[in-house]
Amino acid sequence: MKIAMASDHGGFELKNAIKAHLIERGFEIDDLGTNSEESVNYPEFGKKCAEYVASGKAPLGIVCCGTGIGIGIAANKVHGIRCAELVTPFMAEMAKKHNHANMVSLGGRILSIEEGIKLVDIWLDTEEEHGRHDVRVAMLDEM
Ligand code: RB5
Repeated sequence: MKIAMASDHGGFELKNAIKAHLIERGFEIDDLGTNSEESVNYPEFGKKCAEYVASGKAPLGIVCCGTGIGIGIAANKVHGIRCAELVTPFMAEMAKKHNHANMVSLGGRILSIEEGIKLVDIWLDTEEEHGRHDVRVAMLDEM
């Protein structure tokens, strides 16, 4: 499966570590930048990754910035994107089960590399729950 990824400078190291881990797991990664620790603007990279996912070029996306907040806000401005910030294992599980999150955001300055990788693995390995959750997710997608 293909996964789109992007970060600003604050999430650059975490993005690269998650990317290497996912390639090892057999995923195909489309890395949309940034490509160094030089300061860049997170809205540009959140938007770029979210538009990539919304257009169907990849079914899932992962974005990283310093806190995971700004780049996730940017991603959620794109119609069709449900981007959840991952901070705890429970959030990673619920983001998929209940919210059918097609993108996640993580903070390179709040998570260790190991924590970030663990959260992404939980999100990827959890199945969506349907029924009442489909109704709520459809309401999100209508907004
Ligand atoms: C960049 O310094 C920082 O503001 C950014 O990475 C992120 O934390 C924004 O939400």
